[in-house]
Amino acid sequence: MAIRRPPILIVVFLVILTAGVRIATADEPVPAPWPHQFHALMFMNYSGDLSMIDLWYDWTNGRNFNIIQEQLGGITYDLEWNNGTSFIYSLDESKSCRSAQLEVGILRPNWLDGAKYLGQRHVNGFHCNVWEKVDFIWYYEDVETKRPVQWIFYTGREAHVMTFEVGAVLEDEKWQAPVYCFNKEKKKKKGLSLEGGLREFKGYKEKAVL
Ligand SMILES: *[C@@H]1O[C@H](CO)[C@@H](O)[C@H](O)[C@H]1NC(C)=O
Ligand SMILES: *[C@@H]1O[C@H](CO)[C@@H](O)[C@H](O)[C@H]1NC(C)=O
Repeated sequence: MAIRRPPILIVVFLVILTAGVRIATADEPVPAPWPHQFHALMFMNYSGDLSMIDLWYDWTNGRNFNIIQEQLGGITYDLEWNNGTSFIYSLDESKSCRSAQLEVGILRPNWLDGAKYLGQRHVNGFHCNVWEKVDFIWYYEDVETKRPVQWIFYTGREAHVMTFEVGAVLEDEKWQAPVYCFNKEKKKKKGLSLEGGLREFKGYKEKAVL
């Protein structure tokens, strides 16, 4: 008997401990998963280089589109498919396009799972919950509406969410990459900017898949 009792006590103690831990973490808010389809307009600032991103997230159809307008500059189309293929192109006379093949597809709706809660902060007049994920992104979500307000990448690039339309879907024909993306002869990527895009997300996805 005397030999058996200590293990039982330890088990009881562990059960109490894990229950305690579960209660403690249950109190912390978690980021709302991304809606399966939404449209957002974002104001981007990368050390003073400004751009607007028209973001069409479409998990349902396995595709994601960033249409990047540089301030008083060109427009870059960054179209990603869930099979890992991306097309980055312009629709101007330069007819530039390049494609990339990643190991992983578009961001999953729950890509923020496991983010570390940092508490609440007031930003741009919004009362936000803040999380940090793998030293990669700081994510701010409105406490009441659960809408994203902004996120900041480790590079310092800031995305400020200006509109967030849940359920909005871009028409199918707009997702067609131009024919010159499929030419065997690769065009030079002259004039194509990746700086304004969500390039960090590509690095993140490669990291997260490991
Ligand atoms: C852009 O960010 C820089 C800091 O990197 C800041 O000094 C500047 O005021 C910001 N510009 C705008 C328009 O928010
Ligand atoms: C991925 O899907 C897109 C759109 O259907 C297609 O253009 C591309 O060739 C596909 N990539 C691969 C590697 O199958």
